[in-house]
Amino acid sequence: MSKLIYILNGPNLNLLGKRQPDIYGHETLEDVGVHCQKVATSAGLSQKMLQSNHEGQIIDWIHDAREDAAGIIINPGALTHTSIAILDALNAFDGPVIEVHISQVHKREAFRHKSFVSLRADAVMAGFGTHGYALAMQHMAHLLGGK
Ligand code: DQA
Repeated sequence: MSKLIYILNGPNLNLLGKRQPDIYGHETLEDVGVHCQKVATSAGLSQKMLQSNHEGQIIDWIHDAREDAAGIIINPGALTHTSIAILDALNAFDGPVIEVHISQVHKREAFRHKSFVSLRADAVMAGFGTHGYALAMQHMAHLLGGK
């Protein structure tokens, strides 16, 4: 059976493609899922794309990932900058974790420069636009040893 990768998305990312397109672009989360799926399939991986506006739901999914996922790609949205609870949940997950930000957060407001999730992430993508997710999937395949 192929290794499963969770792609977790936090608050407001359901509005991707509609929300501040000058910053986040025109692609939807569904489009992102299609691009990632292509990369995952060619690397022999499978994926589960999830989005929630609720911190507790994201934590529950990270707990689920302990049972059935080989790796996690996560864009926690604004929770990146506030959530020690998400950091703690990721610290309880054994596989690789890649943090993704569509925008180049370090060029933006100072409050976006701090990430609790980066204390756990094995790699961090920022400023690659929505393409960053597919790049993260490619790197995930590399970390997991490919097909
Ligand atoms: C984001 C950056 C965060 O600062 C912001 O709150 C988001 C999206 C990004 O993908 O660039 O919601 O994670």
